[in-house]
Amino acid sequence: MKVRKAVLPVAGFGTRFLPATKSSSKEMLPLVDKPLIHYAVEDAIDAGIEQIIFITGRGKRAIEDYFDISFELEYHLKAQGKENLVKEMRKISNMADFVYIRQKEPKGLGHAVLRAKDVVGNEPFAVILADDVIQNGKSGTKQLVEVFERYNCSVIGLEEVDPEEVSSYGIVSGAGIEEGVFKLDNFVEKPKKGKAPSNLAIIGRYIFTPFIFEELEKTKPGAKGEIQLTDAIATLSKKEVIYGKTMEGKRFDCGNKLGFLQATIEFALNDENLKDEFEKYLKEVVKC
Ligand code: G1P
Repeated sequence: MKVRKAVLPVAGFGTRFLPATKSSSKEMLPLVDKPLIHYAVEDAIDAGIEQIIFITGRGKRAIEDYFDISFELEYHLKAQGKENLVKEMRKISNMADFVYIRQKEPKGLGHAVLRAKDVVGNEPFAVILADDVIQNGKSGTKQLVEVFERYNCSVIGLEEVDPEEVSSYGIVSGAGIEEGVFKLDNFVEKPKKGKAPSNLAIIGRYIFTPFIFEELEKTKPGAKGEIQLTDAIATLSKKEVIYGKTMEGKRFDCGNKLGFLQATIEFALNDENLKDEFEKYLKEVVKC
């Protein structure tokens, strides 16, 4: 069955970026000229996704406005003869069918994904975390969809991380079955250093069969007192095979300041209009 829907949880407070996120959404922070959420939606569209289901919360109106038509802006741009920009802005609202569901309380990633149960229905779907930005030719979601199409089972995006960093991630272990693809057997959310089953971390791309919802409904609060998606995956793995796929491309963790700054620099160095002057400028700054 084709993966047509993607769930994008965006209700988090973005506390690591305060005060910038006090009155606006972390997902609207831009890498050069596009907000993080735009890259996440592109990742979905490139994988053939048709419907984007945002799990949103208070203070996230900017995301709805961003993917809506802005009549005032279009009127203003037209009056200035900027027809190309009008088309560019329209393209954003035409990217997909956008659905918004509120997560009323911050009870964790698993709780957020469960909010989408009725809208997803009985079909496979993707989950995309906008914090994780993958820079390369192929979308991260597309890479997982390709594995899903071969095995018809849930697939999780993975990356090897430094053993010092395991406690920031969901960590898995499993047996390699083909280049970069694993059959997974162990799932631990944010293990303590030295207690992780491996250094293979879950990064923010997933494809699930709809059976994950039954597990989420039974999942009790885990790490940080929140309902963890990783815990539901662990119980699902007792009933269905779960695959993992190491992601091709460079992944940036834009959920923290350092990762966000690294991504900003690399995206700017990849921008045709900026790269020459920006590179020259960086060389000057680093010299001092
Ligand atoms: C979430 C997941 C975690 C995963 C991570 C990837 O954690 O719970 O399993 O490894 O995203 O970015 P968070 O970053 O929201 O704490």
